[in-house]
Amino acid sequence: MNVDFYEKIWMWAALGIIVVFLASIGFTTFGMAVQPPSHVEMIDPETVRTDPEFSQPGVTVHEDGSATVVVQAMLFAFLPNEIHVPRGQPVTFRLTSPDVIHGFQIVGTNGNTMVVPGYVSQFTTTFSRAGEYLIVCNEYCGLGHHNMSAKLIVEDMASGTGGAR
Ligand code: CUA
Repeated sequence: MNVDFYEKIWMWAALGIIVVFLASIGFTTFGMAVQPPSHVEMIDPETVRTDPEFSQPGVTVHEDGSATVVVQAMLFAFLPNEIHVPRGQPVTFRLTSPDVIHGFQIVGTNGNTMVVPGYVSQFTTTFSRAGEYLIVCNEYCGLGHHNMSAKLIVEDMASGTGGAR
């Protein structure tokens, strides 16, 4: 079989691209430890509404100025609906759902996760710009999906107050 010289170049180029794709998937999976939320923590969706942590969703500001935000994502709302967090401090979000899969995207930031019933999704990020951000559900979850939103307010807070807002 005679394969044209230029045809051979493109065949090898296509093969090279596939190798690069596979290598990058392997690197992010094993090298950077990118893992699905199932590797973090599990929770029975039936008990979310009575769970000591998730039945009291809200913000806790710690002594060192960092904050933890506990959120319930449910049909068709986020609890709490308005979240105040400190600017320039690590903010850890902990989320779960008592019903179906939702999304939690803080528009204009790198804060974005799926919220899967049975699992606790957790991520930590720092907001450098004060202001108001829109939080949306970006996984279609039912007829009220388009109404599912909340507000994040990043503001300068006196650290060490330990107060929840
Ligand atoms: Cu919740 Cu879409």
